[in-house]
Amino acid sequence: MSTHSVPGVHTADLVVFGGTGDLSMRKLLPALYHCDRDGRLSPATRVIAMSRGGLTDADFRGKVDAEVRAFVPVDDDPSGWERFLGRLHHVSVDVGGADGSGWHDLAALLAGHEDRDRVFYLASPPRTFGPFCRELAAAGLVTPRSRVVLEKPLGHDLPSAQRINDEVGAIFDERQIFRIDHYLGKETVQNLLVLRFANAFLEPIWNSLWIDHVQITAAETVGTPGRRGYYDHAGALRDMVQNHLLQLLTLTAMEPPARNDREAIRDEKVKVLQALRPIAGTEAGRFTVRGQYTGAGDLPGYLDEPGSTPPTEGSRRVETFTAIRAEIRNWRWAGVPFYLRTGKRMPYRRSEIVVQFKDVPHSIFPGGSPNRLVLRLQPEEGIELHIMAKEPGAGEVTLKPVPLALSFGKTFSNRVPEAYERLLTDVLAGNPTLFMRRDEVEAAWRWIDPILDAWRADPALPEPYPAGTTGPAGAHELLGRSGRAWHEEEL
Ligand code: BG6
Repeated sequence: MSTHSVPGVHTADLVVFGGTGDLSMRKLLPALYHCDRDGRLSPATRVIAMSRGGLTDADFRGKVDAEVRAFVPVDDDPSGWERFLGRLHHVSVDVGGADGSGWHDLAALLAGHEDRDRVFYLASPPRTFGPFCRELAAAGLVTPRSRVVLEKPLGHDLPSAQRINDEVGAIFDERQIFRIDHYLGKETVQNLLVLRFANAFLEPIWNSLWIDHVQITAAETVGTPGRRGYYDHAGALRDMVQNHLLQLLTLTAMEPPARNDREAIRDEKVKVLQALRPIAGTEAGRFTVRGQYTGAGDLPGYLDEPGSTPPTEGSRRVETFTAIRAEIRNWRWAGVPFYLRTGKRMPYRRSEIVVQFKDVPHSIFPGGSPNRLVLRLQPEEGIELHIMAKEPGAGEVTLKPVPLALSFGKTFSNRVPEAYERLLTDVLAGNPTLFMRRDEVEAAWRWIDPILDAWRADPALPEPYPAGTTGPAGAHELLGRSGRAWHEEEL
C-alpha cells in the first residue's frame, strides 16, 4: 500500500480516456477538484488525461484553468486550485495509431508507481472500451491494484452490452470493473435507501396493500443541440430509461437487503429487474408512448436542432420522450403500476419519484385525496410527504393537502456534492456498491430490447409534442385510462 498523509485515502493514478472531452471538463475535473479541497485525494495522486489533443502538461493545465474555473469556486482558495492544476498531466494517444507512442508515454509516466491504485476511467465511446483495455494489458499497465470505470452508454442492446462486458472482462475481474450510472451518485437516491431501511414506519406500508402506483420522472428543459450523432442512435429509452430510470425503479422496489454491503444491495436490485413483466410486440402500443418535440416559439424541433449533422430519415423515428407503464411481478408489487417518464424540452427540469398511496378505506369527509411521498432528486433535493389537513376556520371542515417537507439544502448546512464527486470517491476507495454489476446491466437490456424491437417494427412515428410542453397526449392517456394523472397536473 502506498504511503501518504491523508488517512484512509490511497495514492492513485487516475487515467481518464477522453480526458479533454465535455464530460471530463464539465463533470469529472470539477468533481475531482472538490475531492481535493475536501482532503479526499492524497498529496501524490495524479490525474492523467488521455486524448488525441497533442497537448503538453502545461497546455492541458492552461486549458483546465481557462475552462473548468467556471464550474468551481476557485477564488476563495487560489492556492488549492494551483495545487490541483499541479496534479494534472496529459498524454496524447492516437487510437488505432500504428506506432503506439501514446501507450509508451503512458507506460513511462506510470513506471515506478505500480504500488499505487490505478484507475482507468473510460469516458470515451463504448466501441473503444475493449480495444483500450487490450492496449492497457499489452502495455503491461494492468496491475492487481487497477480498476476500470466504464461510462454509459454500455452498448445499444443486450448483445452489444454483452460483447463489451466480455471484452473488458477478459482483462479485468468483475470486482475491478466500475460501471457508472451518475444517478446513483445523487444525494436523494442514496437517501432513498436510508429513508426506506433506517426508518421503521415505511416498510409495513411499502407494498401493494397501501401503494396505488409509483411515478418516476426525469424531465429536462434542454434539447439535443449538437448531439444528433449520439442521440439519433440512442433516443430517450436507451439514453435515460435503460440506466437512470431503471436504477431508480430498482431502489424504490427492492427488498430490504440483509446487510449494507455491495453484493447484498446489488443482489436485491437485480431481482427487481428480473421480475419486470416483459413488454413485447403489440403490448408496446398499450404500455409505452414515444414522442418527439417539434418547434414552438423560439425553441427548435428535434429535426431542426442546430450544431450537429443534418437529420436523416431515421431521425424522424427517434423518441425524445417516452413514458412506460411497468409492472413488477412479485408478491410485494403485484398490481402496482410503475410509470416511467422522461423527455427533453419539457417545461421544467425535474427528477422525482412519486409514491402514491391508496385512498382511505372509508372516508368520513367529503372529497379528499390520498397521501403521496415525493422524493425529489433535482432541482432541489428533498423529500415531501403530502398529507391531508384541516384548513383553519370555524365553519365547515375543509380539507387541504399539505406537504411535510424536508429540504436537504435548508436542513443540512453541508454542501450537497455533485453525483460524480461521490462516485469518484467510491472508485478511489474501491467501493462498488453504487455501480452496476454485469448481471444488472444485462437484465436491464433484457427488458429494454423487446420494447426497442416492437418500436422498430411499428411504422408509426413518435407522437409530436411542442417543445416546452409536458409530452404527447398519449403520455397523459397512459395514466388517464385508469383514472390517474401525472404528478404536476394536480399541483
Ligand atoms: C445523461 C444523458 O446520462 O443524463 C443526458 O445522456 C441527460 O441526455 C443527462 O441530459 C441528465 O442528467 P442530470 O444529472 O442532468 O439529470
